[in-house]
Amino acid sequence: FNLLPSKRPPVWEGLPFIGGLLKFTGGPWKLLENGYAKFGECFTVPVAHRRVTFLIGPEVSPHFFKAGDDEMSQSEVYDFNIPTFGPGVVFDVEQKVRTEQFRMFTEALTKNRLKSYVPHFNKEAEEYFAKWGETGVIDFKDEFSKLITLTAARTLLGREVREQLFEQVADLLHGLDEGMVPLSVFFPYAPIPVHFKRDRCRKALAEIFAKVIRARRESGRREEDVLQQFIDARYQNVNGGRALTEEEITGLLIAVLFAGQHTSSITTSWTGIFMAANKRHYDKAAEEQKEIIKKFGTELTFETLSEMEVLHRNITEALRMHPPLLLVMRYSKKPFTVTTSTGKSYVIPKGDVVAASPNFSHMLPQCFKDPKAYDPDRFAAPREEQNKPYAFIGFGAGRHACIGQNFAYLQIKAIWSVLLREFEFELLDPVPEADYESMVIGPKACRVRYTRRKL
Ligand code: HEM
Repeated sequence: FNLLPSKRPPVWEGLPFIGGLLKFTGGPWKLLENGYAKFGECFTVPVAHRRVTFLIGPEVSPHFFKAGDDEMSQSEVYDFNIPTFGPGVVFDVEQKVRTEQFRMFTEALTKNRLKSYVPHFNKEAEEYFAKWGETGVIDFKDEFSKLITLTAARTLLGREVREQLFEQVADLLHGLDEGMVPLSVFFPYAPIPVHFKRDRCRKALAEIFAKVIRARRESGRREEDVLQQFIDARYQNVNGGRALTEEEITGLLIAVLFAGQHTSSITTSWTGIFMAANKRHYDKAAEEQKEIIKKFGTELTFETLSEMEVLHRNITEALRMHPPLLLVMRYSKKPFTVTTSTGKSYVIPKGDVVAASPNFSHMLPQCFKDPKAYDPDRFAAPREEQNKPYAFIGFGAGRHACIGQNFAYLQIKAIWSVLLREFEFELLDPVPEADYESMVIGPKACRVRYTRRKL
């Protein structure tokens, strides 16, 4: 234990207010890199009217991920989502209500429910790629963004939206997306055109979903999708045990789409980019497909997808190299102490915004050997580098780890199984950099040639 009195983390003074703000919102990678070089694993940056304390690496992260919401709270830092998700859900409600709403979502992702989504992932992927020609030039990011919207529409929003309302709903979701710009994080209600459009789209979506929900409730027809789960769900210990309102269901559907759509499509893209750039890994994953087909036949099921360990490791490695969420954040409601790997102790005061960075942590050589190299085998026995606590945090960790992780893996695996079985890929550009200007960080443009395999 440490006999010296603990002190606050070093503060990086002197960043110009606007410059600091722009760096923070427009691409904080440099800020993290310089701050880590200057101060080490824990330092504080004044950003606008707030103090942001960065905790970098596994030694200083456990409290961040493990602490209860009365200590490390999300709503103060994620409440900029309220106008997008809408009233009465997630960050617009008390913690105990939010916990129940997430419980309802978790119930839509049990093994049996996930099993029922796999045929839809498969069908959407097969139909989508059937439209490709013999050969052509594409950008993974554009293709997977469209395909994941289709799979999400089918499994989360339901048959009605996918079959009858898809174009309209996709346009409205796009409008919501465009309404989330870096300025929105600090000023979510700023009177700017993209925010006005966001509000109009949110309202129109609520009207569409209300009609779908009412039609289902009135007809008694049931479907296997997340929407049905929300229609059937009831609060247990709050709100008098009632069912969700139409407005709440709409808000929760938007929230899970926002949590899962770009993150999944970006990870699908990086998986393809890295496998195409490292032919040995592509071939190994294609070989695995052949073995699976030999053992289980061609049908893609929950069980066969779960067998695909080589593909799984490629996805995990793509996510390690480029996690789409650059920062995860909390608001410190009680002071707490962290101890760095060199034994320094700091007290993080109440009122700080506290941030951990999956991207930066994943590049620490003390966590991952040769971290800049694409090496999916780092996750295979005996290395299993993912097992170091709080080293791999692409899906977060601890109390608020990603609820959609299994859903995401199944969806990405279904897409890549279809592709590995039918296509070869060649990158026409170098492996792209990440685009740190966007809210969810994906690859910059990158042209890829696909060629259908001769059977
Ligand atoms: C939470 C990443 C896919 C739903 C998180 C967190 C991360 C993350 C880092 C933690 C955020 C924090 O600690 O503040 C990802 C990545 C994905 C993915 C990289 C894809 C590769 C999905 C999907 C869904 C989803 C497909 C839903 C269908 C959620 C939800 C939470 C969450 C509801 C909040 C959990 C909580 O606060 O308790 N995700 N996610 N995610 N994710 Fe995902």
